[in-house]
Amino acid sequence: MSTIGILGAGRVGTAIARQALRAGYDVVVATAADPAEISLIVEVMAPGARAVTAAEAAAADLVVIAVPMRKYDTLDPELLASRVVVDVMNHWAETDGDVPDLDGASSTSEAVQAHLAGARVVKTLNHIGYHELESDHVPAGAPGRRALAVAGDDDDARAVVADLIERLGFDAVDAGPLAAGRALEPGTEIFAGRHDRAELTRLLEHACLAAVQR
Ligand SMILES: NC(=O)c1ccc[n+]([C@@H]2O[C@H](COP(=O)([O-])OP(=O)(O)OC[C@H]3O[C@@H](n4cnc5c(N)ncnc54)[C@H](OP(=O)(O)O)[C@@H]3O)[C@@H](O)[C@H]2O)c1
Repeated sequence: MSTIGILGAGRVGTAIARQALRAGYDVVVATAADPAEISLIVEVMAPGARAVTAAEAAAADLVVIAVPMRKYDTLDPELLASRVVVDVMNHWAETDGDVPDLDGASSTSEAVQAHLAGARVVKTLNHIGYHELESDHVPAGAPGRRALAVAGDDDDARAVVADLIERLGFDAVDAGPLAAGRALEPGTEIFAGRHDRAELTRLLEHACLAAVQR
């Protein structure tokens, strides 16, 4: 059993915690605050997970970042150096406002990677509603199984995260480098809908072709 460390104890962090527990992972959850401040939330929202410090969560086998985009630069790069980091964040201008270093053209995960320079950032899970993690997961091989894209610059990290996605109950589709993560963000067809493997692969190829032609 491997341990997943989740930074963020909000809607998404606790939903991922629940699903990871169901899939058999050991799960620890942290915010920037003292673990005592979130221990009740974690106990109620993700029974079986443990509230820990950010340093303890960052030491897990796999780290998920589920904090608001406007706060990504409060994450400590030293804690996350060399870690495989799953970036589930989206930029919502209405709530996040202007966020430094997001240019709107490249993927927000590229800015996260630049901030967490020593980490191996993989983008996924941003294009599924937190409640759908619970409602849409099915076993491998089930007809029409929902697929999620996985983008990252490190091949091994992408493979590790693809395995997580499969264990959570979704087909993992390799989207290639982190830059391709732009195709999964708000405003895209991939972000807006539910897709099976064939459809998601087609949409990723289409997005890739469009990017080359620009
Ligand atoms: N809503 C969805 O269905 C959905 C789906 C996929 C992805 N997303 C994305 O997932 C991210 C999280 O969304 P959410 O709805 O879960 O947000 P949320 O409910 O506001 O929760 C954010 C959590 O992050 C914590 N946090 C803030 N700064 C931190 C830091 N430096 N280290 C550790 N934890 C920190 C907060 O703790 P404090 O309260 O102590 O600040 C809080 O527990 C967003 O970027 C969102 O766009 C959302």
